Amino acid sequence: MNEKILITSALLYGNGPLHFGHMAGSYLPAECYARFMRFTGHEVLFLSGLDEYGAAITLSAEKEKQSPQAHVDHYYKEAIKDFERFDFSFDHFSRTTWPRHKEAVVEFFQDLASQSYVEKVVTKQLYSEKDKKFLADRYVQGICPKCKYQEARGDECPKCGASFEANELIEPKSKLTKSSLTLKETEHFFLKLDLFKEQLKEWLSQKKWKPQVLNMAKQYVEDARPRCITRDLNWGIPVPNEEGKVFYVWFDAPIGYISAAKDWAEKNNDPNAWEKFWLDPKTKYVQFVGKDNIPFHSVFFPAMVMGQKRAYKQVDELPANAFFHYEGKKFSKSEGWFIELDDFFKSYSSDQIRYCLAANAPEQDDSEFSWKDFQSRNNAELVGKFGNFINRTLVFIAQRAEGKIPELKDSTVRDKKFLEDIQVLTDKIKEAHFSFHLRKSTQLIMELATCCNVYFDELKPWQLAKEDVERMKAVLAHCLVGIKALSVAAYAIIPKAANKIWNMIGFDDHLTSASFDERLKMPLNAGSPINKPEILFQKIEDKQVQKELDKLKCSQSKDDDSMIDFDSFSKVDLRVAEVLQAEQLPKSQKLLRIELDVGGERRVVVSGIKEHYNPEDLLGKKVILVANLKPAKIMGIESQGMILAASDGKMLEMPLIENLPSGSRVS
Ligand code: MF3
Ligand code: ZN
Repeated sequence: MNEKILITSALLYGNGPLHFGHMAGSYLPAECYARFMRFTGHEVLFLSGLDEYGAAITLSAEKEKQSPQAHVDHYYKEAIKDFERFDFSFDHFSRTTWPRHKEAVVEFFQDLASQSYVEKVVTKQLYSEKDKKFLADRYVQGICPKCKYQEARGDECPKCGASFEANELIEPKSKLTKSSLTLKETEHFFLKLDLFKEQLKEWLSQKKWKPQVLNMAKQYVEDARPRCITRDLNWGIPVPNEEGKVFYVWFDAPIGYISAAKDWAEKNNDPNAWEKFWLDPKTKYVQFVGKDNIPFHSVFFPAMVMGQKRAYKQVDELPANAFFHYEGKKFSKSEGWFIELDDFFKSYSSDQIRYCLAANAPEQDDSEFSWKDFQSRNNAELVGKFGNFINRTLVFIAQRAEGKIPELKDSTVRDKKFLEDIQVLTDKIKEAHFSFHLRKSTQLIMELATCCNVYFDELKPWQLAKEDVERMKAVLAHCLVGIKALSVAAYAIIPKAANKIWNMIGFDDHLTSASFDERLKMPLNAGSPINKPEILFQKIEDKQVQKELDKLKCSQSKDDDSMIDFDSFSKVDLRVAEVLQAEQLPKSQKLLRIELDVGGERRVVVSGIKEHYNPEDLLGKKVILVANLKPAKIMGIESQGMILAASDGKMLEMPLIENLPSGSRVS
């Protein structure tokens, strides 16, 4: 049945470049789903855009010494360029600074207010005495009230995906100055989420989402409380009739999905076309997001939609993904843990990376990109199985069958089994796409390629060439059915290669000019020529992978302030030193006065280890001393160096040397 499908991917924050983490989490799964749905004959509107307001933007604009507007303008251009490089098929990529987005947001707000779902209350917000202002969201750092992660933000936790009010954060500090914050009264608007509790419960009870998504949603519904939807900030959509207040970015951004559709409709000179998707209850609405976005998409935004007057579609499917890392760590531009896309696309194709990211999509658990995995997915799977079958068949036809498509005839039991296997696997691939199992569909594509290779190896057309040319041709004709199926089945994930294959087997239209099922059924044109087989994927050599890993190491040390080079390290003169005397400093709880022998030289050091060592136990011990530290006066005593010790804040232990004499160098 032909359906109308609205597909959105989480709006991208306009504060940094796109990376594979975004891609594998919420963009590529949406992109492949959109392509697949169009190809199977559905009417698709696939949207996303840039999330341009809020503290995420102002904070990073300040760091780069740019106005917020200039900042998002820059990243808008970058995003458009990058999505093109990945061969994305968005119908539209909008932005929340699009002037008409504001109208939609204000309408939502006024609607909610007119039905008493919004109230203005005196509330306590985090205030910085030092800056004489309220600090919003990302300007605040503290401990997550849910998972206790140390670097949670004022409104959400990047680790566990929790979302909360700023005053729930433990030990809130200013992100910029690290000074502690106080709670101070100010007036704000709150959305009375608690009023939607029953309606949300009922609505969620019908969803068949992934358990981890549903569980998180249900927990937030249970916990539904009025939620602050305005901020003291100067970058955002102004709250009508309020000085200096804007809407919280998580209030305005999801409405961006609606305004993106309006923006799309206007660009296509059909201003009402968006209604066909957003206002028709028969539309199927699928939102692709990362796990940190679950509360907003499963509870807060649905409540906003429930509380306003228009009959906007609620989300039907929410296939939220976990996080995607890079060689074991979070992608981070500022820490140099990052891949420059400009460089990347000089060496690799969009199909190669789309395949690798799809194969590793974090559908159940966190997963990662690693260069070694990229190399082996490419070399063993794309080149070794998929490309190899296509290439060996086409080369064989060019050399032994006059480069013409042979007739599909005289199918034996084995041939029929092969055709059936193709049918079964392509059906499974279809099912995997429909149910958001992108990883699974890459596995099935490789299974299909393997099934083709096995057929080729078993039927040995090279032998038949000597014994029975007619049979050889029939076998090749069956192989071509396999190639056609590979092209059709792989299209949503590797669209460029798929269409190339389509053209190589003699078709000159675009693969998607007819539907998935039609393409599978369609016979090949016996007697017409195949086109010259082209290489579909380049092999990735070991030395190339090594180069990428070296680059990563190098950019890390370049970008990270905390790294030192070897020369700086080697300036530190570390020596073995023997304790000759140790005594308490009467006025101090923590300090000991220690006399040391460093290869014949006597040193006095004041050390903060009194709570952990008895002075008499130290006598004769050999510790490690920083011997060239500038002397410092501590409690009236000149301390000539520092003793190394390890500590976790509670315990403290000094590394001790057993055998080497005092004065030995440590390096
Ligand atoms: N920019 C947000 C993020 O990256 C996602 C916004 S999704 C929307 O986490 F629904 F608000 F649009
Ligand atoms: Zn947390």
